[in-house]
Amino acid sequence: MDPEVFGGKHNDHILGKTIHEYLAAFAKKYNVLDKIRFSTKVEEVQQDTEQKWIIRVTGPDGAQKKILANKLIVATGLTGNPNMPEIPGVDVFDGPVYHAKEFLQNKGLLHTAKTVAVYGASKSGWDAVYAYASAGVQVEWVVRESGRGPCWMAPMWVIGGKKWLEALVFTRLMTWLNPTVWGANDGFGPWKRFLHGSFMGRLIVNKFWNLLEQDVLDYNQFDSHPEMKKLKPWSGSFWSGTSLSILNYPTDFYDLVRNGTVRVHIGDITRLSPHQIHLSTGETIEADALHCSTGWKHEPPIKFSPPLLATKLGYPGSYDPSDAEMTAKIDKEIISRFPMLKNQPNVTPNRDPAKGPLASKEMPYRLYRYTVPPATAHDRNFAVAGAFLSLGQPVAAQLQALWITAYLDGSLPLTKSKEDMIYETELFQRFGHWRFPGGYGGKVGDFVFETLPYYDDLLGDLGLKFKRKNGWYKEITEPYGPKDYKGIVNEWIEKNRVEKKEEA
Ligand SMILES: NC(=O)c1ccc[n+]([C@@H]2O[C@H](COP(=O)([O-])OP(=O)(O)OC[C@H]3O[C@@H](n4cnc5c(N)ncnc54)[C@H](OP(=O)(O)O)[C@@H]3O)[C@@H](O)[C@H]2O)c1
Repeated sequence: MDPEVFGGKHNDHILGKTIHEYLAAFAKKYNVLDKIRFSTKVEEVQQDTEQKWIIRVTGPDGAQKKILANKLIVATGLTGNPNMPEIPGVDVFDGPVYHAKEFLQNKGLLHTAKTVAVYGASKSGWDAVYAYASAGVQVEWVVRESGRGPCWMAPMWVIGGKKWLEALVFTRLMTWLNPTVWGANDGFGPWKRFLHGSFMGRLIVNKFWNLLEQDVLDYNQFDSHPEMKKLKPWSGSFWSGTSLSILNYPTDFYDLVRNGTVRVHIGDITRLSPHQIHLSTGETIEADALHCSTGWKHEPPIKFSPPLLATKLGYPGSYDPSDAEMTAKIDKEIISRFPMLKNQPNVTPNRDPAKGPLASKEMPYRLYRYTVPPATAHDRNFAVAGAFLSLGQPVAAQLQALWITAYLDGSLPLTKSKEDMIYETELFQRFGHWRFPGGYGGKVGDFVFETLPYYDDLLGDLGLKFKRKNGWYKEITEPYGPKDYKGIVNEWIEKNRVEKKEEA
């Protein structure tokens, strides 16, 4: 992504528009465009008796077609299927009520609305609030009382402004301070066992997380203003997973809160009436529109037939394939390796206990390496790309694409039995559940400090070098970035060429 061509500054965030231009240029340069069927919707996926995929699609002309394929990769991501709350009175509200996915279709509100209510306080909620408020629109921001509260927002630079937060997450030494099952074969096991398995080690780990959290709290100054107080996260940053983000706005977000352009309300929306939003607290808010940044449904994005096929492919479905005995054994193993995960926080402290826990009808994804269904992995004919949230998505996408290509063409060795892959998949899924109750670890891959160890595991499977720095000191102290993975595809090609020559 040459800055001369695409713009952007070193160490700065890249605009969405720039990323789109880069991807379009990439697709053109590498002749990908003519392999894409644009404006085509997949209606249904089936498998015939010979394990071939039958994909029923509707094309741009509305005509239905069938595509037959030997192998199938589903890469529909996790943020395409809107989770829209069912609120009584939508039909009488007399103004737009829409999900964040339809922000663009409703962009006129930035110029025409007097007041917009935003529901949800994770990153897209913050982004919507900023977009409206910085355009001069009064924002009534509703954070549901029964949920997990505002997400953690950090500055770009932490530890007294000395460390770039994103670099910290990609520094190997720092990743050791994070309890994780990823990257277990990186050769640094003794350090990690000391840090998480001993009393002394856990003191160090706790100190690190407390320091980091305090630093972010000091920066945000939530206690400096009554309205700011309402944005203070409700549970520790340690448990939040990717339900955290960076204050990457061109101006100070909090100025808009302090000057009253943004008013924060803690309460569940119970119903709507003409231009009015009624909250569980008894409060009523007046607004021209209701923007719902209420997240995404983590369920199969495509209809699989029969429905059990979705479960077989590792997707969340109506049927729970887990084995209670195995889950209990795995939970025991996780807690014995990482005792600090035993005392789980209450991530919904303002929820009425009479309502029971925040229920989730969604099952988790069950994918080995968050990529292939473990029970049918040896068929090598199906993979899912991008079923995880992480702080390093571009590199993860590249490495996962290489992993999937090698897996499907048979060149990636699968050394584990089906049973071992099922066990390991369940271990990683349960680990996410224990590690990130404040995020989405129980449902999908949720990677913060585990992003680098995840890269290590993918590269380790491919037999490629994952310790990519010059010397051990740099290896543990120098942050990893996309540049460290430059040329990885050619490394893989070269490795295979040498192996084939040796075999011959
Ligand atoms: N610029 C960026 O880096 C950027 C921008 C946007 C998103 N992201 C990432 O993309 C992922 C998705 O983010 P997101 O903000 O779109 O979704 P999200 O993280 O799933 O957040 C959804 C929000 O909606 C609330 N919510 C869910 N169901 C609700 C309901 N029925 N009624 C009321 N509120 C409800 C949740 O609160 P509860 O906690 O109470 O359930 C949460 O505050 C995250 O990993 C995020 O960090 C990144």
